[in-house]
Amino acid sequence: MSVQPSTVESVLIENRVFPPNEALVRQANISGMAAYQALWKEAKNDYPAFWARLARENLVWTKPFTRTLDESNAPFFKWFEDGELNASANCLDKHMGTPVENKTAIIFEADDGAVTKVTYKELLARVSQFANALKARGVKKGDRVVIYMPMTVEGVVAMQACARIGAIHSVVFGGFSAKSLHERIVDAAAVAVITANYQLRGGKELPLKAIVDEAIETGGCESVKTVFVYQRTATTCNMVGGRDITFAEALAGQSTDCPPVPVSAEHPLFILYTSGSTGKPKGVQHSTGGYLMWSKLTMDWTFDIKPDDVFWCTADIGWVTGHSYITYGPLAAGVTEIVFEGVPTYPDAGRFWQMIERHKCSVFYTAPTAIRSLIKASEADAKVHPARSDLSSLRIIGSVGEPINPEAWMWYYRNVGGERCPIVDTWWQTETGGHMINPLPGVTPLVPGSCTLPLPGIMTEVVDETGQTVPQGAGGMLVVTKPWPSMIRTIWNDPERYKKAYFPEEFGGKIYLAGDGAVRSNGEATKGADRGYFRITGRIDDVLNVSGHRLGTMEVESALVAKTDLVAEAAVVARPDDLTGEAICAFVVLKRARPTGDEATKIAAELRNWVAKEIGPIAKPKDISFGDNLPKTRSGKIMRRLLRSIAKGEAITQDISTLENPQILEQFAQKL
Ligand code: WT7
Repeated sequence: MSVQPSTVESVLIENRVFPPNEALVRQANISGMAAYQALWKEAKNDYPAFWARLARENLVWTKPFTRTLDESNAPFFKWFEDGELNASANCLDKHMGTPVENKTAIIFEADDGAVTKVTYKELLARVSQFANALKARGVKKGDRVVIYMPMTVEGVVAMQACARIGAIHSVVFGGFSAKSLHERIVDAAAVAVITANYQLRGGKELPLKAIVDEAIETGGCESVKTVFVYQRTATTCNMVGGRDITFAEALAGQSTDCPPVPVSAEHPLFILYTSGSTGKPKGVQHSTGGYLMWSKLTMDWTFDIKPDDVFWCTADIGWVTGHSYITYGPLAAGVTEIVFEGVPTYPDAGRFWQMIERHKCSVFYTAPTAIRSLIKASEADAKVHPARSDLSSLRIIGSVGEPINPEAWMWYYRNVGGERCPIVDTWWQTETGGHMINPLPGVTPLVPGSCTLPLPGIMTEVVDETGQTVPQGAGGMLVVTKPWPSMIRTIWNDPERYKKAYFPEEFGGKIYLAGDGAVRSNGEATKGADRGYFRITGRIDDVLNVSGHRLGTMEVESALVAKTDLVAEAAVVARPDDLTGEAICAFVVLKRARPTGDEATKIAAELRNWVAKEIGPIAKPKDISFGDNLPKTRSGKIMRRLLRSIAKGEAITQDISTLENPQILEQFAQKL
């Protein structure tokens, strides 16, 4: 990513401040501002010593580390490198012989409402047995395993089983297309794929195995020796002889005992592909030690986890939120967690609230996009309003994935949190591994729409294009000035891209550029109560955020132009959307005359389906408009600024004197 000046279009004036709930403060893991500042003092005093203490206290090491931070090959930082541990042992074995052993680890609620519970002891047995099944098929330490699974206990078991034997998992979200899956299998050179015959979502049975077959048949997947198939439904699926094996067959006769393989703290725990501003998705590589320590510790800090909490993160294991706050953090913390297979609107839009009541959920973590759609649904139908459910078990509620607008924040605070639960609005990324900037339940006065202050030890700043810190109240780029244990280690197969994308030369090659714009409050509106608070203003690169899902504009453009029989050129931008946060707008030039009327509608529908097939349904452009050409400068550069204005339906006020072909702006302005 190149360093560019960022503009903050509108800085919202927000003067509502909600002090922390006194009852929570008294018993909080970090109790009060003084405790928070003491941790900060410790971090600033001796940065490596601070992290070394936390890593020793929060992880079980089979070999203690002696070196904390190695910066000799920056920005390829290493943490706790000579220490050895196993991630699965830190989530499961650690609890054996303690009261957690017989505690419910997972309350699984299926799409159809069926509930099953698994204790820690049972989960350990299932993970071990599956790890033995992986070994029986030749999967070993360092091998990559692609997981393309529904939200089930088996998905968590598959990930933990890989970690147990030191295999590196790469989970691909079940909504991605065969093409996206293929790309990831090839890039990771996976030796095995773990999938299910079908997935159940909203009462529908959707194929998974058929998509795996299609991906592998595309070619170049010779590395894949085994496809493990979990029979989620009774429907049969195609099985390839010699390659495919059902879970039942693979587990038959396998012992429920499997010693965890100790690995170096720097051994990759997983690769997770995410979108960048250019080209193909990036395989974000995470470590075992630093990553795991942070997913566990942020459970204690951000969610203030207590032994009797029932934790629920509504994310999918296909995203980093599901990795850190379903598969690893909650289990390492020894908490009971809810795993939900279905969707928030089935059988009705009261499902989340009914589930909170049913399972006495105490800490609830979801995305603004879900909140906004449930606000809308409860306005249309009072029967699905949160007031219809008993939500008194809730202590803390969280938000993740995109900025939460103050209206949605207030609704969530009042109607779900009963004005007693703090909202922890957590800013972080696939690359950061865990939370970075967010309020702490027992510490931070809340301001709607602000993710407030960084966690102790996380050195965030807002800088201008020269790397200088900007004054409070001014917009700039969000950076992290020091390495932290759970940070991305590299991009799989592409260390150069890692350096270029995150550690720009302009800042000396050592400062992490997040790709988000941010502004720190000068405290004027709140009489100083929120001075220094961070507010995220959105991406400064060509990355889109649709319903909390991250996509590159270039990815969508490449998908469109891959329809070579139809599309000559395409440009994609985002516009704000009330429901999905951002919506994708595509400007398309066809290889034939510009379509109008019904023909345009028909071709737009065809292109949407095409993009769904190329990337996944989440990437479907909401708006598609056609022109004879794209707005370009005389040197041939696409003027995206103008397209952004058109997408928002704004009048063009920019200088268009350098525009080669002004007439086409009108063509594109005619919305379908
Ligand atoms: C991007 C990262 C965080 C894990 C899930 C998404 C945006 C994320 C917030 C928030 C404002 C947020 C940023 C970030 N984002 N959380 N609380 N407030 N923006 O991870 O897919 O890697 O996306 O999501 O733009 O860069 P991801």
